[in-house]
Amino acid sequence: MTDETRYEIDAEQYKITEEPYYRPVGEEQELYEAAYSARMPVMLKGPTGCGKSRFVEHMAYKLGRPLVTVACNEDMTASDLVGRYLLDADGTRWHDGPLTVAARIGAICYLDEVVEARTDTTVMIHPLTDHRRTLPLEKKGEVVEAHPDFQLVISYNPGYQSLMKDLKQSTKQRFGAMDFDYPDAEVEAEVVAHETGVDKDTASKLVSIAERSRNLRGHGLDEGMSTRLLVYAGQLITKGVDPVNACRMALVRPITDDADMRDTLDAAVTTYF
Ligand SMILES: Nc1ncnc2c1ncn2[C@@H]1O[C@H](COP(=O)(O)OP(=O)(O)OP(=O)(O)O)[C@@H](O)[C@H]1O
Ligand SMILES: [Mg+2]
Repeated sequence: MTDETRYEIDAEQYKITEEPYYRPVGEEQELYEAAYSARMPVMLKGPTGCGKSRFVEHMAYKLGRPLVTVACNEDMTASDLVGRYLLDADGTRWHDGPLTVAARIGAICYLDEVVEARTDTTVMIHPLTDHRRTLPLEKKGEVVEAHPDFQLVISYNPGYQSLMKDLKQSTKQRFGAMDFDYPDAEVEAEVVAHETGVDKDTASKLVSIAERSRNLRGHGLDEGMSTRLLVYAGQLITKGVDPVNACRMALVRPITDDADMRDTLDAAVTTYF
């Protein structure tokens, strides 16, 4: 098998076959499409569970590009990203990491929570995100030229990081950035209803509870209830769980261990259900 055919097979594996549901909130799709057509690296900023990953999946589908997603963490090394030699029956064999695969097959590569990665890992993306569009595989002695359709997308939760963990300016300034946030109440209710099958009224109540929690951000809560948690609550309700119990399990318990804060949030739940 030639390298070319292998990359084509890989590309098929990473293609998204069914359209992921994504409810646009503003002009994010048009902006992203323009950025993609310029092959501009993009940074998606926003709190947890607000739709960033779903958006990338939707756009990859729309653009017909394969999507390679990597969840970054502090233990991740440059080799985890670009590849390493592995020992098998025939001796040592080079194994491409996900970033290398994406660069070769012309995928959109989504590095989730990139700020968690160590700096020596993060700088690996530098030559890929400027005019060079190359990825040096030092251990292998190869410089991969990125496929013309390759694009790098990273996500970033502003506010969670300590100063120590922020991205370097030389990394940040390689990306166009888009802000994401929980959508307006009506849109968010539409999303929750669509994702779970609860009726519009129930979805709106869930959103109202979340809004109360979001107002407590910085006043005892690090973060309010995300759209993702609202979807969890809706799913429990559709499974027949009593809404109050569903909200306790999916909305209140995950976000705080503080007894007083739980009481406050539980009280908010009972005002609506
Ligand atoms: N605009 C939207 N359209 C469709 N679904 C949405 C939208 N916003 C949020 N969701 C729902 O919220 C859930 C969580 O979104 P997603 O996984 O994309 O969050 P995220 O921003 O990537 O979070 P994290 O930073 O924790 O990875 C999705 O599974 C989806 O059900
Ligand atoms: Mg995500």
